[in-house]
Amino acid sequence: MKTISILDLVHEELQRVEQKMREASQVEYEHLAAVLDDLLKSGGKRLRPALVLLSCKFHPADAEKAISLAASVEMLHTATLVHDDMIDNSLVRRGNPTLNATWNRGATVLAGDFLFALAAGLAAEVENVRVMSIFAQGLMAICSGELKQIFNSQGNLPAREEYYQRIYSKTASLFAASTEAGAVLSGAPEPEVQALREYGRTLGMAFQIVDDVLDFVGDERELGKPVGSDLRQGIVTLPALYFHEMHPTDDALIKALNDPGEEEVRAVVAAVKESGAVESALDEARSFAQGSRESLQVLPHNEYRQAMLDLADYVVERRW
Ligand code: IPE
Ligand code: IPE
Ligand code: MG
Ligand code: MG
Repeated sequence: MKTISILDLVHEELQRVEQKMREASQVEYEHLAAVLDDLLKSGGKRLRPALVLLSCKFHPADAEKAISLAASVEMLHTATLVHDDMIDNSLVRRGNPTLNATWNRGATVLAGDFLFALAAGLAAEVENVRVMSIFAQGLMAICSGELKQIFNSQGNLPAREEYYQRIYSKTASLFAASTEAGAVLSGAPEPEVQALREYGRTLGMAFQIVDDVLDFVGDERELGKPVGSDLRQGIVTLPALYFHEMHPTDDALIKALNDPGEEEVRAVVAAVKESGAVESALDEARSFAQGSRESLQVLPHNEYRQAMLDLADYVVERRW
């Protein structure tokens, strides 16, 4: 499994998170058990549970509850991926066939629901009503974000503000929930809770912009998922928005949105890559990452804060 070296600091706890998720997924029905096992084995960066664990470190947190919370957040993330791949018609994730590639839609939805329930069960182990509420708010934000993408975004050129709202909902909200819940669990004073929440939010914004950039310039094998898929779904992300601002009369993008054939999509991907739009989008990601570094100023200077600062560099430089 590929790992992010910055997370070595919480390596042992992340191993316990894996163990916790495995234990939670021991279910009777063998078909489901096999699927859950495959999903957990397929890896992933484990960035969100690491954010929970790091956010717990500034005050003494209950170690066992921190593991449950981190496992809960990763389980929730896994559930959203199962549903997202079905919605996006994506057949590969983490280098493996997606569930929707083999199971029908009904069964895929139910497996995702099952994962949501496992995530809620793990969150309940924390025995903290505020954490439960953060969990619920986070899940509502993700669902609204995916719905907004389906109803308002397909085939449209959104305003930059609308794009930001969408990526907040679908991605940054869970990063923010992870860091906020970690801070709450540790009993951090409210200004630190808010600082950590803001760190997670801005880190998540940078993370999703880079995900959108990698959909243009990434390597499919390295990413373990298809590239060009946003345009194929008629979804306009920041690189395409910048491209349109730079070349308002170029109608290749509009054509590809209305009729996303392989040729049209390939042409737009090539044009966007050549245009400098990718660099402009990365500048935006860098600016969010800078915001996340600044949010950490109120926290004590220690190795955990340093790892969070390093993660702000990592999210912009990453290739997978
Ligand atoms: C994928 O998240 C979904 C997005 C929010 C872009 P990750 O890139 O963190 O996925 P894994 O868990 O590492 O596979
Ligand atoms: C993130 O958006 C989806 C979720 C938050 C569930 P994407 O659709 O861009 O994620 P990938 O590219 O499929 O991983
Ligand atoms: Mg997707
Ligand atoms: Mg993507």
